[in-house]
Amino acid sequence: MVEVEGRVAVITGASRGIGAGLAEHFADRGMRLGLCSRSRPVLPSGDDVVAASVDVTDARAVDAFADEVASRFGTIDVWVNNAGVLDPIGPLRDIPADDIATHLAVNVMGVVHGTQAYARHVRARAGEGILVNLSSGAAEHGYAGWAAYCASKAAVDRLTEVVGLEEADAGLRAYAFSPGVVDTDMQALVRRCEPERFPAVERFLELARTQAFNSPAHVAASLLALAFDPAQRPDGYRVRVPDEAG
Ligand SMILES: NC(=O)c1ccc[n+]([C@@H]2O[C@H](COP(=O)([O-])OP(=O)(O)OC[C@H]3O[C@@H](n4cnc5c(N)ncnc54)[C@H](OP(=O)(O)O)[C@@H]3O)[C@@H](O)[C@H]2O)c1
Repeated sequence: MVEVEGRVAVITGASRGIGAGLAEHFADRGMRLGLCSRSRPVLPSGDDVVAASVDVTDARAVDAFADEVASRFGTIDVWVNNAGVLDPIGPLRDIPADDIATHLAVNVMGVVHGTQAYARHVRARAGEGILVNLSSGAAEHGYAGWAAYCASKAAVDRLTEVVGLEEADAGLRAYAFSPGVVDTDMQALVRRCEPERFPAVERFLELARTQAFNSPAHVAASLLALAFDPAQRPDGYRVRVPDEAG
């Protein structure tokens, strides 16, 4: 297992689900953490944690949070833009356009804000940095009922690729990171959908019946290997966590 004690990570969307699981795993391995979400992050502020209530749609709040973490811990080694939403679900023709805009404000602009804050941080520190933006199979494949989510994750993929090109000279590596299927509130929401709104729901119900999920700890270990183990470094910017079940 790669040594990460004392390294500094920021995780957005750290109150529950994958973000909370990453935070707990990273803390167990001795990392120092900047955690944010709108509600309280899973770990409280302390010697090794800066925990803040931040809405990622607010660029200034994200910038201020990045400054706070850097002033406490110095260089941020890895920044994980994990905060995300799935709603609205259903045929695009039926969805109020404002709901699509609200979704994009979180899943696209939230990632833009975190990415900008981190790219500026890495360039100012003249060091190395690892940006991990949570993506999904929905970036590459369309699912009926998920117009907003598929569009937002496709946008995350492309902006991650571009930032990787723009910031390579500053030492930034950028990854669009698909965690596989993890049993979180977001997955519970998927399983509650009627087939009329989300025709592929049966596939996700079957995953739950067979418990074919990736655990947050498995995702966290994969992310740390990607970030800090040179032997695990991929050629491209797109990374999919292998299925834990094998
Ligand atoms: N679960 C899966 O199978 C799966 C698969 C592929 C990709 N992903 C991606 O992985 C990421 C995490 O998903 P999850 O399943 O863990 O979801 P989740 O359980 O619904 O958790 C989402 C997290 O994002 C935070 N969040 C939402 N809106 C926010 C905002 N405006 N500002 C700050 N934080 C916000 C939430 O905290 P607050 O509500 O407290 O703000 C929460 O901590 C997402 O980007 C998702 O698209 C998940």
